[in-house]
Amino acid sequence: SSTGAVDCYELTIRRSTAEILPGIATDVLTYGGHFPGPVIHARSGRRVLVRQHNDLGMPVTVHLHGGNVPSASDGNPMDVFAPGTARTYVYANRQPHASLWFHDHAHHMEAEHVYRGLSGTYLLTDDLEQSLPLPKGRYDVPITLRDARFDERGQLAYTMSDRNRTTVLANGRPTPYFEVAARKYRFRLLNGSNLRLFALSLSDGSPLTQIASDGGLLERPVAVPVLTLSPGERADVVVDFSRHTVGTRLVLTNTGPGRPEQVGKVLAFDVVRTADDPSSVPEVLRTLRPAAALPKAAVTRDIELSMDEDGRPDPRGFINGRMYDPDRVDTTVAFGSSEVWNVTNSNKRAPHNFHLHLVQFRVLERGGRPAGPTETGLKDTVRVMPGETVKLHVTFDGYRGDYVYHCHMLDHSAMGMMATFRVR
Ligand code: C2O
Ligand code: CU
Ligand code: CU
Repeated sequence: SSTGAVDCYELTIRRSTAEILPGIATDVLTYGGHFPGPVIHARSGRRVLVRQHNDLGMPVTVHLHGGNVPSASDGNPMDVFAPGTARTYVYANRQPHASLWFHDHAHHMEAEHVYRGLSGTYLLTDDLEQSLPLPKGRYDVPITLRDARFDERGQLAYTMSDRNRTTVLANGRPTPYFEVAARKYRFRLLNGSNLRLFALSLSDGSPLTQIASDGGLLERPVAVPVLTLSPGERADVVVDFSRHTVGTRLVLTNTGPGRPEQVGKVLAFDVVRTADDPSSVPEVLRTLRPAAALPKAAVTRDIELSMDEDGRPDPRGFINGRMYDPDRVDTTVAFGSSEVWNVTNSNKRAPHNFHLHLVQFRVLERGGRPAGPTETGLKDTVRVMPGETVKLHVTFDGYRGDYVYHCHMLDHSAMGMMATFRVR
């Protein structure tokens, strides 16, 4: 692809209906009428323009989650565009391959908008990724997982902090099954839920082979018996169905601890045919700087996430004791500098996670111990369980401007657990 090459997409943000439950038309919000959202394919170094038309009747803003994007195209919560207007987002893709996603970010409305369908997939690839013999084409499948609650009429019910979103959707359908060949597949998993943490495992007891996290490939594949994904996090896994004979059904199950409704079938794979398999998973996928060789941190900051836990009907979310105020800059960082952020969840029961716009960071420690192998790649979202502290190494590269960081349990960010950082 030559310099200056550009790919253009045009989408209309509008209401539509989708058959999610059999025989029922459910009202949804969509990018271009698609539920689940569309998939945009991009390549590092090649620009993508996405022209978004707002036919929703209310303000929207579109954020490319995980993207290193100029502030004007980042989809800041206050940078909305009005009903009846359009906005062109420019993505330069000056970053390596990664499985990204885009979603609504309109202040106070993001949680409900995403819940009702404003979420799409953005697959950024590059020469390094393409050169590897990993499963490709139809054997490389993006899967967005999320939960939902349906009312008696089969419509999506939304109230903030709803504990009863007990239906799990995979690519927009409840417990679907995929017909697969007896060979290796790459699944790009995204947790697109507002609040739910997934803990995923395979019914035959074999581990998932995780090859990538939020910001692209890990250094090496990791065998993961139970894959944890908090809202907004991504993990690419390879599953080898050649161990199974045609006719076998394998189930991806949510084995998460906690409330009983969190445990259950997420989706099923039916092995329906044999196939040649030229793909393989290399022992080394990419090279990343070891933690000890990362640029020296100029500043260390403490970030505290918390929310009301006293059962009030309208709980508030805080970062360092303050609710989100779009007119306040909470943190100013120097362009190009590196910092260490110690992010603590000071709640007793509520899990949180932590997401920064603009950057891919590294997780140095979790709970005072070196991060495990699935978290040592590039990350933009990281879970922080009650009482826990994660230590992050962040380099503020790419662009100057104002961006947000927040808990990506979107009901929490909508209740105030969000703040602004300025790269200067
Ligand atoms: Cu998916 Cu502000 O984030
Ligand atoms: Cu984001
Ligand atoms: Cu939270």
